[in-house]
Formats: sequence, structure tokens, C-alpha cells
Amino acid sequence: MHADFKHTDFLNDFIARFKNSTEKIHVFRSPARINLIGEHIDYNGGKVFPAAIDRYLSMAIRLRDDDTINIQNQDIQGSWSFTIPQFHEKPSEASWISYLRGVFHYLFNGKWPDRGFDALFTSNVPMGAGVSSSAALELCFAYGLSWLYKLEIPRLDLVHISRKAEHEYAGVHCGIMDQYAVAFGKAEHALLLDTSACTHTYAPVKLGDYVIMLINTNKPRSLADSKYNERLEECQKALTLLRTIPTLSQCQNLCDIPPDQFEQHKAILNNANLERRVRHCIYENQRVLASVDVLNKGDLKAFGKLLIESHISLRENYEVTGLHLDTIFESARSYADCIGVRMTGAGFGGCAIALIKKTALDDFARTVGSDYKSKTGLEATFYPVTIGEGVHELE
Ligand code: GLA
Repeated sequence: MHADFKHTDFLNDFIARFKNSTEKIHVFRSPARINLIGEHIDYNGGKVFPAAIDRYLSMAIRLRDDDTINIQNQDIQGSWSFTIPQFHEKPSEASWISYLRGVFHYLFNGKWPDRGFDALFTSNVPMGAGVSSSAALELCFAYGLSWLYKLEIPRLDLVHISRKAEHEYAGVHCGIMDQYAVAFGKAEHALLLDTSACTHTYAPVKLGDYVIMLINTNKPRSLADSKYNERLEECQKALTLLRTIPTLSQCQNLCDIPPDQFEQHKAILNNANLERRVRHCIYENQRVLASVDVLNKGDLKAFGKLLIESHISLRENYEVTGLHLDTIFESARSYADCIGVRMTGAGFGGCAIALIKKTALDDFARTVGSDYKSKTGLEATFYPVTIGEGVHELE
């Protein structure tokens, strides 16, 4: 349970906001995610290594007798009311409600229900900070509706429905990692997710004397969506060129290309930027496999080094970091009790993660926080996190 969330208060607030009914109120919650390593390769068929964390979005929901849908949010002023036909239409402007409308649309897919619902949301997930507040919202809603309307939709289908809603109703052409991690997260484990096969295995993450510190740069990710789509296009272009090499013609994704084949044939790209983008993808995929290996051996320091290499590649080759994330990275890296640090998520601002000795958490936040403030003028926020559960109902 998140520290500032009180189940009974949340239910009481729901009852105060919506009119009386004998129907049961259900409460669902879904986590934020971090990606431990494997960045920007979920849309290149790579292996990625995300985990759900103990920051949650919660939703209380109750069926109504008519076809009205009422939505409120404890953290955002206002109330939203629709009929069912209005609700599933694509809105002309994107807002947080668009994610819900998209999920509703693809979940029912023409077989519209007769009864609407009242729903109340609250969240302690940092919004727009690269820890998938949108996937948490989509999955909480998709899972909750599937339960409420007894649709019995498998989790993997909820992942695809949520991702489609994000593509079509929010215009972000994300990979599958965020929705997948939010759906399948498991306490104390990361998911080794094969994004080309859409399958995963769980890998225990035993951190011993260390803790994962989530660091929010509080730098708005203003360019994130346009730059994200630009990287996606660069990767598609590079793959088309590389597939003209006969031995690579069968590769469906950049991450299918073995490193030695890339080194042998990279000249076909004939463009330094494209070459760097592909270099990142191919070697990042190798770093994910190496990470699982060293974690299995309990070698946390080796894992930390891979995190650092990943950040450097995202900075030099993929160019998705920027001043704020790089300042956190350099400052954390020079801190004695930090054994690994990197940006997490899409980049261009948002969050970093660092592996910090338990005994040094406060001092780390003070030292890195004041260095960051003096260099960027912004206050960073520090959250020690543990690995939590995927979307579920709260009893
Ligand atoms: C965003 C996207 C994900 C993934 C990451 C980068 O979070 O939603 O699909 O591509 O960026 O790894």
C-alpha cells in the first residue's frame, strides 16, 4: 500500500462524490514501472528488463443503472460526464481522459455495454516523469473494466489494448514495455521481456545492502514525444538499409542483428547518426543479457557498471539524455556509495535510477540534490523504491 493512500478514506470520498447505489465499489491499483536496463529497444525487438515499483495509481469504480459514465480524480480539479456513445469516440484534443476513452473503445470494440459507471482516481506516481503514469492509468482502467463487466480478458490482451489506446488516442507510438511491466510486474522480480516474442521470464533482483533510488529531474519532457517518434523512424530506416545485405535480409528487427554482423556491414548505413542509433540498440540488447547473467551470480557491482555503460550509450549514440539527466548521472557516478546510475524510460528529462548503499540514502539525496540544483536551477526529487506487484484488485 502506498504510504499516503488510505483505503477507507478513498472509499468514503467516492461515496461522498457519487450518488447512492447498492452496487459494490471495487478498488483497483496499478504500479509505475522503472526500466532497469534495455532502453529504446522495445520497438526494435530487443530484450528489456523493467520492474513494477511501489508507487501506485488507484481507481474506485462502481456500476450504474443507466448509460452515464462519471469520472473524477482526487488530484485534478473537475468532473467529467459522458454517455456511453460519447465516451468511446476519439476526442479532438488529448488529455488524461483520452487514455481512458481509448481503452474503453478497444476493450469493448463495438460491443458496447448498457450500463455506465462512476469512477474515482488518485495516484502517487510522478506524472510525465518517464515512469509510465500513462500505462498505469490504462492498465488500471482496462483491468478494472474487464473485472467489472466480467469480460475475463487475459492480461496480455489488456496490454495490447492499452498500447493501442496510447498509439491511437494519445498519439505516442510507444513499444510494449510499459504496459507489459505494469500488467505482469511481480514483487522483488524484474521481467526479462522478449519484445519480439511478447513473452517474459522473471529474474529475482536481490540488492542486499543496496536500494534503487528513483531520481526525478523534474525537467518536463517537452520534446519527448516528437523525438521519440523520430528515433523510431531512424531505426526503421536503418533496418531497411541493413536488410539489403543478403545475410541480414531475414532480420525482422534491429536487435536480431548480431554485433559482428553489424560491425561488418555498418558502412551500408552511410550516415554517422544512423550508425550510432543502431550501435546503441545492438549493444544495449547485449547489456540486458549480461545484466541477467551477473545478477544471477549476485555480482551487483558488475550490474552497476552495465547501467553506467547503458547511460553513456544513450547519451553518445542514441542522444536522448540532455543536460538534466546527464547532470544527475555525473553527480551520482562520482558518489562513493553509488555503484550504478542511468536514465530510465524515454529520456529527454524525466527520471534516473541509481543503486545506492542503504546507509547512504539521505546523504546521497542531499549531495546530488544540491549539486544538481547548483548546475540546473531545479530541485530533483528522490524516492527510494522497492519492486512491487502488477495491476490488481485491492480487497
Ligand atoms: C517509453 C515507451 C517505451 C520504451 C521507453 C524507452 O517509456 O513508452 O515503450 O520505448 O520509452 O525504452
